Amino acid sequence: MDKKLILTLFAVFMLFFTHDTSAKTMKPHHKNAGLACADCHTSKPFEAAEMEQCLTCHELPQKKEDYHGAPDKHDSPHYGVELECENCHAEHESSENFCNSCHEFEFNVP
Ligand code: HEC
Ligand code: HEC
Ligand code: HEC
Ligand code: HEC
Repeated sequence: MDKKLILTLFAVFMLFFTHDTSAKTMKPHHKNAGLACADCHTSKPFEAAEMEQCLTCHELPQKKEDYHGAPDKHDSPHYGVELECENCHAEHESSENFCNSCHEFEFNVP
């Protein structure tokens, strides 16, 4: 192979490679369900997804009887059902237990 061809192949490879690693990864529950980026991102270039977008697929999770001994994080005495999903459920990084900035509840956020 001549040098130019190798360089061109290398450049093409790097383009795909860097494109791929800079892409955002989805949570397994969404990836496995076959979601596309555009299911949450309605604008281009992508901006942070709004809570209304989550609610096109998910009902506001209703109050449940059993919350593993912990209170209902989807309907708390402080915020009711108004707390933005993003406070707990991150899509592109680890989710967070928002309540535990003050409490010590034992629930894991998917
Ligand atoms: C289930 C919904 C969902 C899906 C699917 C999703 N995203 Fe996101 N994305 C979000 C949310 C929520 C944020 C803002 C908070 C965060 O960064 O986690 C975000 C933030 C981003 C941002 C940063 C935007 C900014 O200006 O802050 C980019 C870029 C992005 N997503 C790209 C992608 C790509 C590429 C895909 C497909 C591989 C994808 N997203 C799939 C929900 C989603
Ligand atoms: C296009 C439809 C769609 C959108 C938009 C969407 N989801 Fe989902 N989501 C699903 C499907 C399908 C599943 C997998 C089946 C299930 O658990 O309901 C899922 C699963 C989940 C789960 C995991 C459930 C579990 O039992 O572990 C969470 C948490 C979740 N979604 C939160 C969000 C949040 C937060 C947003 C907004 C940023 C969002 N979803 C946007 C369709 C969607
Ligand atoms: C205060 C943190 C917090 C916020 C805010 C929050 N969630 Fe959750 N969510 C959780 C936790 C923790 C679970 C794990 C299930 C459990 O422990 O009951 C969960 C579970 C889920 C599930 C799986 C089904 C279920 O009910 O167990 C879905 C879907 C979901 N959340 C969607 C949402 C959506 C949509 C929003 C925004 C309207 C939201 N959540 C806001 C903490 C939160
Ligand atoms: C900024 C701090 C802070 C955050 C964040 C917070 N709490 Fe609280 N919470 C408090 C304080 C302070 C009290 C009152 C003192 C007490 O009872 O411990 C309280 C009390 C409570 C109570 C008892 C109140 C009653 O009516 O019996 C529940 C249940 C509760 N929080 C649930 C939650 C849930 C669920 C979340 C997450 C969605 C959350 N808290 C987030 C500070 C916080």
